[in-house]
Formats: sequence, C-alpha cells, structure tokens
Amino acid sequence: MPRYRRSLVSLLALTLAVAPAGFAMAQPTVGSGVAASEADNSAERPVRFAAAAPAEAALVIVVQSAALPGDVPLDATEREAVERAIAAAEFKGKAGDTLSLRGVGSRPRLLLAGVGETPAASDFAEAAGKAAQELRSERAPVAIVGLPSAEAVAEAALGYRLGQYRFDRYQTGAEQPPAADPVTLVHSDARAAEAAYAARQAGVAEGVRFARDLINEPASAVYPESFVARTRAAFRDIPGVEIEVLDEAEMRRLGMGALVGVGQGSPRGSRLMLVTWRGADGPPLALAGKGITFDSGGLSIKTSSGMEHMKGDMSGAAAVVGTVLSLARTRAPVHVVAVAALAENMPDGNAQRVGDVVRTMGGKTIEIVNTDAEGRLVLADAVQYVAERRDPFAIVDIATLTGAAVSALGPEFAGLFAREDAIAERIEDVAERAGEPVWRLPLHPDYAKAVKSEIADVKNSGASPAPGASAGAHFIEAFIAEDMPWAHIDMAPTMWADSAGPLTPKGATGYGVRLLDLLAREWRPGS
Ligand code: BES
Ligand code: MN
Ligand code: ZN
Repeated sequence: MPRYRRSLVSLLALTLAVAPAGFAMAQPTVGSGVAASEADNSAERPVRFAAAAPAEAALVIVVQSAALPGDVPLDATEREAVERAIAAAEFKGKAGDTLSLRGVGSRPRLLLAGVGETPAASDFAEAAGKAAQELRSERAPVAIVGLPSAEAVAEAALGYRLGQYRFDRYQTGAEQPPAADPVTLVHSDARAAEAAYAARQAGVAEGVRFARDLINEPASAVYPESFVARTRAAFRDIPGVEIEVLDEAEMRRLGMGALVGVGQGSPRGSRLMLVTWRGADGPPLALAGKGITFDSGGLSIKTSSGMEHMKGDMSGAAAVVGTVLSLARTRAPVHVVAVAALAENMPDGNAQRVGDVVRTMGGKTIEIVNTDAEGRLVLADAVQYVAERRDPFAIVDIATLTGAAVSALGPEFAGLFAREDAIAERIEDVAERAGEPVWRLPLHPDYAKAVKSEIADVKNSGASPAPGASAGAHFIEAFIAEDMPWAHIDMAPTMWADSAGPLTPKGATGYGVRLLDLLAREWRPGS
C-alpha cells in the first residue's frame, strides 16, 4: 500500500475512534437502519356498551332464525320492510349467514347476522367478526342488537375486535379508512355485559392482537431483542407481571448449546424470555413457545417459496406471551409462566453446520442433521430451563414446528400430541370451545426411534420418509421428564390465513391465545 494511502487509512481510523457516539451509532451494525414505517396501523372502532343503539348508527341485528328478535329498534314500517327482504332473500339466519340492506328507514344500513337456532359462544363472536369485516368501509357508527345475554355480548365484542383487525402501517398509498366511530354493543343490562367483557374477552382480544402484530411485522422489525422490547411495552401498565430475560452470555453460561446454536448464524442475539403472571399460589402452568423470528432454514436453506411467511415462525412465542397478556390484563386467578425461545435462524460463516453436535442445558447431546429443524432445538433448552427453575405442574409447548403437520391437517386444525389421554382430551375440549380446534396425532415408540443418533443422544430430524410431525414431538419429549404432564401443539397449519375467516383477516391468525387462555383459566394443579 502506498504511504499516503496508509496515512489516509490511519486518519480515517483516528476519525472513527474520536467520533462522537452519535456518529458511530448512525452506522447500523445490522440492517439498513432505515425504518420502513413510522406510522401506526389505522384506527379501529372502539367497543362501547349501552342499553340503546345510537340513532344514526348502522345496525347489526343478530338473529337465530329467519324471524327478527322482538326488541330491535325498528318501527312497524321498517320491520315490515326487513321481513319482506328476509323472505325474498330466503335468509335463514344460520350461523355464518349475513344479509345486508340499505335504504330501510333512517338507518344508513342494516346487516342481519345469523348465529343459528342453538348458538355456542363462538357463534356470537363469529357473527360479530363477520359484521366487522362487512362494515369495514362503513362511515357511520355501528351498533349491534339482538344479543340474548351479557355473555353473548362479551363474545360479540371480542369477535368484532378480532374481525376488524388490520395491519396497514406499511401501506402508504392506502385509501384513508373511515373515521373510527365506536361500535356499540346493545344490551338491557349494559353494565353486566361490559363487566363480562372486561373479565375475559377484553384480555383475549388484546392478547390475540398483540400476537398478530408481532407475527405480521417483518423480521427486519421483529427480532429477539425487539420482541422482548415489545413485550415489555405491552405489559408496562399491568402491575404484578415479572419479565425475566436471558441474553446469549447468560445462556452460554447455563450450557444452552441448542438454543444459542440456532442463533449463532445471525448477528441478532438470541434471548430466552419468561413472562410470569402470579394470580394464584402454587406451581405454575408453563407455556413454552417457539420464537424463531425468521427461519431461513440456516445452512439447510429453504427454497424461496418455503421461506414465505417464515417471519411468522415466532407464532408460538407470540401465542404464549399473548396468553399471559390476556390473563394478566384481566387479573385471572391463575399462576402461569410463558417461555419464549427467541432466535433467528440464518446461514453465515458462523452458522451451525450439519453434523455439529450441541449440548443442551441438562447435558443431553444432539446431532444436527438438518439446520432447518431448529424449533425443536430452541424448545429443548427452553422446556428444561422452565422445568428446573419454576417447577411447573404441567408444560404445554406450542410451535410452528413442521411442514408435515401442514400437509396432514391443512388450515383447519393444529396438531396435538400428548402422552396422557386425559391431557389430550382436556386440550381437545378447550380448543373446541375456544374456536381453535386441534387434531390429535400419534406419539409412538417406533417414531421415537426415528430421532436416535449414532453419535449423540438424539438427532434433530428423523430418517425420511418419517412421520415428521410425530418425530418433532418425540424430539421435544426427549427433554421433558417422564412424570411431567406435557402436551405439544404443532401450530404450523394454523399460523397463517390465506383467506379471511370471520375472526381472522388474511395474514397472521394469532392462533393459540384463545385456546391457551381458556386452558390456563381452567387447569389447576391436580385438577
Ligand atoms: N418453521 C418450519 C416449519 C413450518 C413449515 C412452519 C411451513 C410453517 C409453515 C420448521 O422449522 C421446519 O423447517 N421444519 C422442517 C423440519 C424438517 C427439516 C425435519 C420441515 O417441516 O420441513
Ligand atoms: Mn426450520
Ligand atoms: Zn422453523
């Protein structure tokens, strides 16, 4: 190098060394440093409870059949017009049916939403969610009438909040959404309805929406450290919640070679986060979530189409933290701890290799035969840590674990695995009532053999063709004590909605919060 160049280099080095911190900080070490959006998502309708519908509101009328309920705010002429429309459209009021009418009386719009003759709680939520979607561009305030009980009102409020969810903060050219006038839920005892909502569904709505936001955000915005920061922000105004965070140095000290190994190919540091809500004494229910903030596959790299939606590979972690958010917000009398195993799975010069052997916190060794089977690796250390430190009465893990579960079940069900029938039945029942169904898949000693390794205790992927979802479940099981009540939910099938459902616009579903919230409210130690 010519001498003048060398002195230029040292001058530059000197300049950098004495530059004020702000100057150095402006040069990002990871990412471009340019935030893609400073905006919030557009405003949505707040929910209100009242004994009567505001005069100018568009009316959602919840109906159980083709007959109008007696107490809807329509005069005789309007009622007659609606009844004629019902007959002409052959509208039956079945669950999921809607009929939209304009030009009737003074109301800007009427929307009939069916729940069927014998509605379950989730039917009220879905009818309201469907209404929220159909009224997305409605400019007038909205009121919902025809709900038969305070509990039905609370469910409808939840449904409306989930159905109207939107994630539009990156859409700079989008049409200005209509003013977010409230949606009023009408019930004769409005205070009882509001109290019912505040006791549970308000928390669930917040938890689901928290999870959806995290999942919909690109991985450039949500990575382990920022996942933790967003969690802290969400819990900021809720007293009594404890958030414990282990960084890589701490995890290395504890010997968490599996979790740290997954993140070693990414410049973004891994984290293990525990969020505890102690609304009751006794041992907690532990909920462990896979939190891969982006899954490229690592050196066993995915195809482009396989990588689509892999910003959502932290959906399990979002679900467990969202669940604790729901429980803590509503001061539920339960003790629960969410464990988020957060890492980014990337291929770089320091990435984990195929053939590497890693050691987990408890001392068991794992042969890495596929760096794309990373979820089970982060969960291996996470479940051992929570079992050792918190002595839970049961562990439920939830993860976007396998494409095999997607192939087996499609978007209708998440896969459920449990050693004990009683636990499987409990979760099947709760899942059904929460409107987030699961389908049990087998654990079998023959499948457990699929993850035996020649050179380590286990390997992270079975020989193919193998029952991939079951092999993944058995791998996790290898890190759970035999006498620990345990279930594994593979939510890869349900993490993403390619088409809108009544409660889920396209995109992240926030699956798991409704299920785990109900599970935690009902499952007590020894029950
Ligand atoms: N995150 C994926 C699983 C996934 C696939 C989630 C599609 C959602 C939609 C997981 O980490 C993965 O890559 N699993 C592998 C496991 C295999 C290498 C044993 C898979 O399913 O192919
Ligand atoms: Mn993977
Ligand atoms: Zn993954």
